Amino acid sequence: ADVLRVALAGLGTVGGGVIRVLDENRELIARRAGRPIEVVAVSARDRLKNRGVDLSRFAWVDDTATLADVDADVIVELIGGSDGPALALARRTLASGKGLVTANKAMLAHHGLDLARAAEEAGAALKFEAAVAGGIPVIKGLREGAAANAIGRVYGILNGTCNFILSKMEAEGRDFAAVLAEAQALGFAEADPSFDIDGVDAAHKLSILASLAFGTAPAFDDVAISGIRHLLAADIAEAAALGYRIRLIGVAEAGPAGLFQRVHAHLVPSDHPLAHVTGATNAVVAEGNFVGRLLFQGAGAGAGPTASAVVADLIDIARGEFGPAYAMPADALATTAAADSGER
Ligand code: NDP
Ligand code: HSE
Repeated sequence: ADVLRVALAGLGTVGGGVIRVLDENRELIARRAGRPIEVVAVSARDRLKNRGVDLSRFAWVDDTATLADVDADVIVELIGGSDGPALALARRTLASGKGLVTANKAMLAHHGLDLARAAEEAGAALKFEAAVAGGIPVIKGLREGAAANAIGRVYGILNGTCNFILSKMEAEGRDFAAVLAEAQALGFAEADPSFDIDGVDAAHKLSILASLAFGTAPAFDDVAISGIRHLLAADIAEAAALGYRIRLIGVAEAGPAGLFQRVHAHLVPSDHPLAHVTGATNAVVAEGNFVGRLLFQGAGAGAGPTASAVVADLIDIARGEFGPAYAMPADALATTAAADSGER
């Protein structure tokens, strides 16, 4: 069968992981995809950096935006950043009719609707499972698993770095800065870790989840955001003495007054399931009117889990199993929001 040819932009934590997953699981991926998936070209900033993977078998492209022009079926964007080279590459890819797979929640939170429109106009795939909650198939879960339901509320632990920091501080009484450095060394944190600890990354993800759950355009600017930078080990110990743990939680709810979206550190009772989510794990709860409460839980960050979600998107594209980026056409999103939420 025809090979699915992939060009990969970004060879850091996630990009390197994607190459390793495709290498190590090559045969089972080809079986499940119905055809081989091959990386044909790559791009990053520094051609000479040692990345622990053999890149000599791939064409190297210096100017990342022109990766969209190589002879490939799908471009995978793993650079990061809401604008700049990632957005330039995404736009150029979709304009050329090629598929786009991205883990870039910042870009989707700000430009997701425009990119979905561009994908639909071109008849191209736009897939972003890795952008929310790393290895957890929560995009698929909401778009497909809960497709028959009106969702009342979606909430959860959406940032692995913050959850890693909070759970290490509570279990080991360690200092905030030291645990943040450890999360960075493990590849969990964003290039600018203030996005993690100030709640911005969780808000990016929340706005994407809300757009899927409620049929609204992503509305990142409407998320009320605060982070965990101000928390001390003493706050965590005091909460524990009262029977609580502290978790950074994003909540999106559709009500008569519109969409409510908030990211904030919450006190969670010690016997609540979210209190037992530790390390760089994420947990997302979606409440549907027929299915009831769904809980999605698993690794929210890191090379292996995130790369696993990227490759799952590639397998869907190889099989030709992809619809519009959202569960409904992009043009219908903002206008059907009121009708969607009005019945609740
Ligand atoms: P890294 O910082 O590890 O890697 C980024 C890669 O992009 C590097 O290879 C870098 O090149 C390249 N790059 C950066 N700037 C440019 C530029 N101007 N032009 C060309 N290439 C550039 O990031 P991650 O792998 O951690 O994250 C990638 C994406 O995945 C981000 O959108 C992130 O939010 C998202 N994500 C990350 C997760 C994680 O656990 N790390 C989980 C889920 C999503 P070079 O190596 O040469 O410097
Ligand atoms: N920095 C992000 C986190 C990566 O810690 O959750 C996964 O999106």
